[in-house]
Amino acid sequence: MIETGGSETYTGQNPEHIESHIDATRQEVDRTLGELQSRLSVRRRMSAAFDRMTPDITRMIRLDHAHVLAAFRRYRARMSEVRKRALVENVCLALEVHTQLEEEIFYPALRQVAAASEILDKSVPEHEEARMLIRSLRGTGPLDPTYDETFRKLIRAVLHHVADEETVLLPLAEELMPDELGRLGRLMTQRRIELLRPHAAEAAVTTIRTFPIGSAVAAAGVLAAGWLLVRGLTGRSH
Ligand SMILES: [Fe+2]
Ligand SMILES: [Fe+2]
Repeated sequence: MIETGGSETYTGQNPEHIESHIDATRQEVDRTLGELQSRLSVRRRMSAAFDRMTPDITRMIRLDHAHVLAAFRRYRARMSEVRKRALVENVCLALEVHTQLEEEIFYPALRQVAAASEILDKSVPEHEEARMLIRSLRGTGPLDPTYDETFRKLIRAVLHHVADEETVLLPLAEELMPDELGRLGRLMTQRRIELLRPHAAEAAVTTIRTFPIGSAVAAAGVLAAGWLLVRGLTGRSH
């Protein structure tokens, strides 16, 4: 049995159906990344309208946070081994991409315009703490007696870190560099495509096993950070 989370599972469905669902989600992640890439290159030539519709960097950061927090809420110590491993892997991948994007793009830009900030100073060390916990999780597995406690440590660390960013750093960026947020959002989208594309299949499989059937494809798109953008631009409905 492959479970997807909550009360909705793939129980009773045949393996071909399950595989086709996973395959469809992986293709959707690929398609989202591909569309984003082509639209970004079109945008280099033209389109002030695209500039206005691209999510700014603070909105993208909040979307990433919401994705990880939604996965945290689905975590249960007693969930199946397969489902727990998928949920943890989904969170680890999302956090790795997110922290790298912040360190390469958001923090340096904020540092240029902000006065000395204790919270900004401790952001990278807090990312390092999360990376250390992620390494520990990947080096063990759901059957290891330390696995749940390590994941709970990661949850606590991330909740604390996200609270600082959402209450201090993001409002500070919106106050001090409002005209830069769109450009930084496009930079972040471009870089995210590069970082996430090699992991599209993993993102699809772990998202399918983490979120309910009805929201898994959308969650995979949020992980690809382009779902709302692509839908908004093309008017596609899914
Ligand atoms: Fe961060
Ligand atoms: Fe963050």
